[in-house]
Order: sequence, then C-alpha cells, then structure tokens
Amino acid sequence: MKVLVSAWLCSFIFISAALNIDQFGAISGESAFHVAIKNGEAFNNAVISANTGSDRTVVISAGKTYWMLPAGTLYNLNNLVINIDGTIIAWGGEEGEWPTGPNGHVLDLISIQNTNNLTIQGTGLIEGQGYNWWWKVILTGKDNRPDLLNIGHSQNTLIQGITLKNSPQYHAFLFDMYELIVQDFTVHVDVTDTKDFLEWLPTFPLNTDGIDISGRNVYFRNLTIQNFDDAVAVKPSHTGQYIYTNCTENILIENSNIKYGVGMSIGSVPPNDNLACVQNITIRNINFETPLKAVYIKPNPGTHGQGIISNILYENLTINDALWWAIWIGPQQQDQPGGYSTGCSFLFPLPGYKCPTDPLVTVEFITLKDINIYKGVNSPGVLLCNETNPCTNFLFDNVNVYHRSFFPVPEGYYCSNVQGWAKNSNVYPRCFTKIGEDYPEFLR
Ligand SMILES: *[C@@H]1O[C@H](CO)[C@@H](O)[C@H](O)[C@H]1NC(C)=O
Ligand SMILES: *[C@@H]1O[C@H](CO)[C@@H](O)[C@H](O)[C@H]1NC(C)=O
Ligand SMILES: *[C@@H]1O[C@H](CO)[C@@H](O)[C@H](O)[C@H]1NC(C)=O
Ligand SMILES: *[C@@H]1O[C@H](CO)[C@@H](O)[C@H](O)[C@H]1NC(C)=O
Ligand SMILES: *[C@@H]1O[C@H](CO)[C@@H](O)[C@H](O)[C@H]1NC(C)=O
Ligand SMILES: *[C@@H]1O[C@H](CO)[C@@H](O)[C@H](O)[C@H]1NC(C)=O
Repeated sequence: MKVLVSAWLCSFIFISAALNIDQFGAISGESAFHVAIKNGEAFNNAVISANTGSDRTVVISAGKTYWMLPAGTLYNLNNLVINIDGTIIAWGGEEGEWPTGPNGHVLDLISIQNTNNLTIQGTGLIEGQGYNWWWKVILTGKDNRPDLLNIGHSQNTLIQGITLKNSPQYHAFLFDMYELIVQDFTVHVDVTDTKDFLEWLPTFPLNTDGIDISGRNVYFRNLTIQNFDDAVAVKPSHTGQYIYTNCTENILIENSNIKYGVGMSIGSVPPNDNLACVQNITIRNINFETPLKAVYIKPNPGTHGQGIISNILYENLTINDALWWAIWIGPQQQDQPGGYSTGCSFLFPLPGYKCPTDPLVTVEFITLKDINIYKGVNSPGVLLCNETNPCTNFLFDNVNVYHRSFFPVPEGYYCSNVQGWAKNSNVYPRCFTKIGEDYPEFLR
C-alpha cells in the first residue's frame, strides 16, 4: 500500500509539475562554452518533451541563470507554455563558435515555427550581450548576427512579461503571425560607453530593433522599449510569401513607453512583384523620450513591383526632446557601413545631401491625430513623396510643435508631393493642398 501511494504521489507530482530544463541536463551559473551548448539542447529537449507529453509547460526557474547557445529551430508546437522566470544569457565568450545553419547564418538564440497556442511568459530576462557583435559589424562591415527571439508562421501566440536586452541583432523577430498578443514586454539596449554612442550615431548599435512584426490580427500593449533602432517595425508581406499573411494588417499598438529608438515604424516597404502591403495599423497612446525618430513610415526604393502603405493611424503621441526627426514619412534612411544604401542621406537636408523619392510604393490614408512634439533640435519632420505617385489623403489633426529649443533650422516640415488636410495644428505642412478645411468623412 505504502509503495502504491508513493508511486501514485510520484506520478501525481510528475504530472502536475512543469518540465524544468534542469531535468533535461541544463546547468545554471556556469558560462563555459560546452555548458551553453548543453543548455540550448536541454531547452529544446524540454520543449519537445512538453509538446509530446501530457505536461505542456516548460520552466526556467526564477533565481537561476543559464548561459545558452541555440540548438536549432523548434517546429510544430501546439498548446504549450514556456515560463521564463530565470535569466538566459546568450553565450558570448572567446572560445568556441556560435552555431550556424546550413546557409552559414548564425542560429537565432530561440527560434520557433509553425505553432498553435504557444505562450511565452514570465518575469525573466534574456540578455544578448550584443556589444561585441555590434562592434564587429562596424569594424569589419560583415554582418552575421543572431536574434534573441525569432518566431514565425504561428497562430494564437501570447508573449508577456519577459525582458529582452542587448540583442546582437533584432530582439524579437515575429513573422507571419496570426492572432498574436504581446504585452507587458520590455526591450532594453545599454550602450555602456556613451562616447561610443555619440561617435557612431546614428548607426550604432545598428539593426537592434525591438520588435519586428509581420502578420494579421496583432495586438501589442504596454511595451517598454529603450533601443537605438526601430522600437517596433511593422513589416510588409506580399501574396504568396507566407501561410497566414498576404498583407500585414489589423495591428494595434498602444500604451507604451519608448526611449531613444528610431520610431514606431511602418516598413521599410520595398516594392514587390506580388505587392508588398501594410494596411490598417493603429499606433496610439505612446510616450517617446529623446527619440531619434518617433513617427517613421518608410517606403524603400526598388526597381520593379509595387507596394502599398494604407490606412495608418498615429494617435495621442507625446514626443519629448526628439534627437533627430519627430516625424519622417519618406524613403527609408539607411546607410550601413559596408552595406546597403537607399540613397537617402542621413545628412539630408544639408546642402549636397539628397533623399530621392521613388514612385513604386503608394502611401495613402495616413492620419496623425493629437500629437504633441516638445522641444527637439530639428524641424518637426519630413514628408517626401514622388511627383509621379504623390502621397494622398493625409490628415494632420491637432499636431502641435512646442518650445523648440534650437532655431537655426527651419521651423516647418520638409514636404513635397503630398495631398492632404491639416487642421487644429500650429505648424501646417506647406505642401498640403487643403489646409484648415474640413476633411472628408472617409478619413478617420
Ligand atoms: C492552449 O494551451 C494551454 C496549455 O497547454 C491549454 O491549457 C489551453 O487549453 C489551450 N487552449 C486551447 C484553445 O486549446
Ligand atoms: C506594464 O508592464 C510592466 C512590465 O513590463 C509591468 O510592471 C506593469 O505592471 C505593466 N503595466 C500595466 C498597466 O499593465
Ligand atoms: C493569399 O492569397 C492567395 C492567392 O490570392 C489566397 O489563395 C489565400 O487565401 C490568401 N491568404 C490569406 C491568408 O489571405
Ligand atoms: C483594423 O484593425 C483593427 C485592429 O487594430 C480591427 O479591430 C479592425 O476590425 C480592422 N478593420 C478592418 C476593416 O479589418
Ligand atoms: C494618451 O496617452 C497617454 C500615454 O502616453 C495616456 O496616459 C493617456 O490616457 C492617453 N489619452 C487618451 C485620451 O487616451
Ligand atoms: C521620382 O521618381 C522618378 C522615377 O524613379 C525619379 O526619376 C525622380 O527623380 C523622383 N523624384 C524625386 C523628387 O525624387
């Protein structure tokens, strides 16, 4: 009887207790390369085991720290919960190599695809130790870096509570997501030596986006992001590209705090033969402190195909002390060391520095409502479209610029080839065709 009871207790405990990565050989508190490899395998094995067994929860315990290297993409997960309450540190030592895939690209730290009903949550931290990776790109021009969290082709996903820090590349790269919620989520990039930051501004630490997202029916709220590239970048998708998404659409991002950052961004959107598309995106109730950019809509030039950016609403934004442009709607500014350039110079509009526009991506129905821009060292913004395919149906309603601290720069917007309406605003974009008039009902 005693044996039976304890056997029953045992199986009861086994069923009710979540699967801890320690049960799969993970070792906490040790930073050696072989431990990091082992911890990555333990994490994957715990998830695979949870996905096949009756216990559907994987735990990384609070108070423990695991150095980790990736053990490859996890596929086809259903009805799983991953609780990250401890700390995962992306291994960043000198000996050994970061694992790579068959294409030579380094593997992302956590990589998951084709899931239904996955939750990743907890009070834990994933620390990327990106500093050395960022320098390597700047010094060598070679760019092969991992993301911390890469999830794609998934439906019914919930990500909440966790903090991602100092990713070598993107913090969370989420693509082809259908029905996704991300909430109470933190991204933090430290640049420990501020001199480096000033020297390399605006390319350092480059491409460390907070969240990149493509998909449909997506809700982000209560994000706290401090970084030096897009805080959130809403990426286009095109017909035939993905399982769930032909056009990135129906996304709401709200109630969030951004420090530094290069914008709550749409794009970049390069033209595509199968129509690159982003539509019906709302970004509201956001507080920006010292952003490099805040509103950033960025078509990308291209040689063939088309794109569309339509029905975008930015509402109730506070933009304090912008370090560069509070608003930028125009060709994406990119010029990576040793890399790709769109021709749109970081030094625009200084004499001799251009930002050529491109007609292949249509930009229409863009509303900015209740936006307050305080101080800032530059003109409030740039609105640049091409004369052969002007931007249309823009509305600026109650977009105000206050207490600008530095005046040698022009006060107005740099604006060309935009058809739009402005009202209740203390600075009107001069190129808007209908200023101060009532705008039509079909504009929100
Ligand atoms: C989602 O997964 C969790 C964890 O396994 C489970 O409790 C829940 O019932 C699942 N939801 C649906 C709708 O299947
Ligand atoms: C927002 O998220 C943070 C964690 O990132 C949490 O501490 C805070 O309680 C959340 N606020 C709300 C209103 O949910
Ligand atoms: C995407 O487009 C293809 C081809 O037009 C269509 O068959 C498919 O249903 C579409 N998928 C979604 C998710 O809209
Ligand atoms: C636009 O997106 C919102 C979510 O932000 C959604 O509630 C709404 O139904 C979408 N509109 C259309 C026409 O799909
Ligand atoms: C505007 O956004 C701020 C957060 O930046 C929020 O506190 C405030 O309640 C929002 N106002 C409205 C009317 O939603
Ligand atoms: C508009 O696009 C055309 C075609 O690409 C290009 O030749 C022209 O320079 C562009 N205009 C501006 C103002 O950049």
